[in-house]
Amino acid sequence: MIQNKDISESMTIKLEDVFDELPVMPKFVKGIRRAPKRDFTLSRKETVLALKNALRYIPEKWHATLAQEFLDELLTTGRIYGYRFRPQGKIKGRSIDEYKGRCIEGKAFQVMIDNNLDFDIALYPYELVTYGETGQVCQNWMQYRLIKQYLQVITRDQTLVVESGHPLGLFASTPEAPRVIITNALMVGLFDDQKNWHRAMALGVANYGQMTAGGWMYIGPQGIVHGTYSTILNAGRIKLGISHDKDLSGYLFVSSGLGGMSGAQGKSVEIANGVGIIAEVDYSRVQTRNEQGWISRVFDNPAEAFSIAKKHQDKKESISIAFYGNIVDLLEYAVDHNIKIDLLTDQTSCHAVYDGGYCPQGMTFDQRTEYLRTDKEKFKTHVDLSLRQHFKMINTLVERGTYFFDYGNSFLKAVFDAGVKKICKNGKNTLDGFIFPSYVEDLMGPMLFDYGYGPFRWVCLSGKREDLLKTDKAAMECIDPDRRSQDRDNYVWIKNADKNRLVVGTQARILYQDALGRMKIALKFNEMVRNKETGPVMLGRDHHDTGGTDSPFRETANIKDGSNIMADMATQCFAGNAARGMSLVALHNGGGVGIGNAINGGFGLVLDGSKRIDGIIEKAIPWDVMGGVARRAWARQEMKTQLKQV
Ligand SMILES: NC(=O)c1ccc[n+]([C@@H]2O[C@H](COP(=O)([O-])OP(=O)(O)OC[C@H]3O[C@@H](n4cnc5c(N)ncnc54)[C@H](O)[C@@H]3O)[C@@H](O)[C@H]2O)c1
Repeated sequence: MIQNKDISESMTIKLEDVFDELPVMPKFVKGIRRAPKRDFTLSRKETVLALKNALRYIPEKWHATLAQEFLDELLTTGRIYGYRFRPQGKIKGRSIDEYKGRCIEGKAFQVMIDNNLDFDIALYPYELVTYGETGQVCQNWMQYRLIKQYLQVITRDQTLVVESGHPLGLFASTPEAPRVIITNALMVGLFDDQKNWHRAMALGVANYGQMTAGGWMYIGPQGIVHGTYSTILNAGRIKLGISHDKDLSGYLFVSSGLGGMSGAQGKSVEIANGVGIIAEVDYSRVQTRNEQGWISRVFDNPAEAFSIAKKHQDKKESISIAFYGNIVDLLEYAVDHNIKIDLLTDQTSCHAVYDGGYCPQGMTFDQRTEYLRTDKEKFKTHVDLSLRQHFKMINTLVERGTYFFDYGNSFLKAVFDAGVKKICKNGKNTLDGFIFPSYVEDLMGPMLFDYGYGPFRWVCLSGKREDLLKTDKAAMECIDPDRRSQDRDNYVWIKNADKNRLVVGTQARILYQDALGRMKIALKFNEMVRNKETGPVMLGRDHHDTGGTDSPFRETANIKDGSNIMADMATQCFAGNAARGMSLVALHNGGGVGIGNAINGGFGLVLDGSKRIDGIIEKAIPWDVMGGVARRAWARQEMKTQLKQV
């Protein structure tokens, strides 16, 4: 029987095991995006507690030096990141063979963590933020180092428990149990709000994992390109009357944000053959997407942006244009010049609207960062003013025939919080929803999630492109394009995936599939690994899926039986995945819509080619999806917007 002593021995990894001496502060390279100062309202006593909490990771001999350094970090950034323990230089997910470990899962997760922090991928790599303004892999670099160390020594008979970024230790387990169990920011109901979460973050006891950031399953903006492509294509079909064998050629899509997820918009609109203008206030993000080839042209005045767009619309040629500036300015121009926008949305990070996620009109990106540091209250006033004007412009455009939808970024809620009551259906509060639909209500829910289609993904852990090409081909062969129109869209997607140059970071692929499709593909891949046709593969999905997320303003927004305020489904999904032996399971609070607004979870499954993994695929993958399908059916989803069979 396991004794307390055994447990304590499994939790003994310390920073001394990683560093013989205090590392020198690594250099900060100019031009790398940095997180703005976070909310810091700790009292003097709480500040001392935050320092003590951070120093728990540090050998006593270094306390004198680091106490002051951590205090400075806390006062200037609002958090203790422990920058000194950051690896020097850029992080990148390398081939699994380059990582140390005693089991394949331990090595595989190191690839995933480093890919989440890849400097070409991560939003604020120095602050461990992968995407979505605040979505972190873990809270600080001490945790990063310790997690990596634990993953190097973990065996098949142990499970690593990670609580809000803190590696609690390796616990005795079995090969059939998950190797890693992660939870992030699961606050007790009474304290489940932004204020308490900020306090907990500053104290160093909470981590905001978003979805795949804290679940170590982010695969760069590609992860979202497929979903965005499906969303805008289906918006065109349902709202603009485009037939299901046609695309967006000749139509104009306008949005904002070229960040972590929003950066997928330019590429998606081009793949759907449409014309897109995306506003972005941060020039470094415009540059990144432009260099990647995901944005074709860049303008800093609306007149030129709209004029080039029109030329392409007329010729029915696709193009993605970045407008370097504020979305509200772009929309004001469209209103003043009577420009017809067919599809309109917004992907600023409104789930963190007062924390830098939304840059107010009349302020440059740098001014916004400075305001956040110096005058948060005034900054909030500017945000509210801007949101009200933003709403006014959208309203006018909608009256002129534009189809506007909320892109799951809490935009409508942010407008409501800015004082606009008429954005609510009942003109009073959010209980009956908003006057504009969310993309899940109108598009993704009824078209995809209700059927179980969701963002299945995989990473070829060898890092070899040839492995990715082989898996693309194998996945394509598993899809019958004549089964449903969704299958046909997915078939076309995977057929063109390589041509569309979607990979940023590791050799990864996203492919929307239903339960059956995911299982078929997973079994095929595992067989390929067994036959040594490819190296090992990591399977996973975005949390933004059929069954993994309860989120009334997003994933479960189209559930109308009143149960969308419950979080039973996501919790069951997580527990069932753990029970069925997924290699990694994660459960988070917040995720994309802000703390208290969602519970979401995901998984990782390392395909090592064994028969044992075949068994897990057969049990766990259907569980992961079908719980959501069953719940949606129980909620009386009629699937009435399904397109005709092709
Ligand atoms: N793409 C999806 O499928 C999807 C799904 C669900 C939710 N979301 C939500 O979309 C939001 C964006 O996600 P992200 O990962 O791209 O976040 P991000 O923070 O990386 O990117 C947002 C970008 O918007 C820019 N921005 C802010 N205010 C602006 C303004 N007024 N005008 C122009 N640009 C402005 C920022 O500079 C930033 O680059 C999040 O709230 C996320 O939860 C996206």
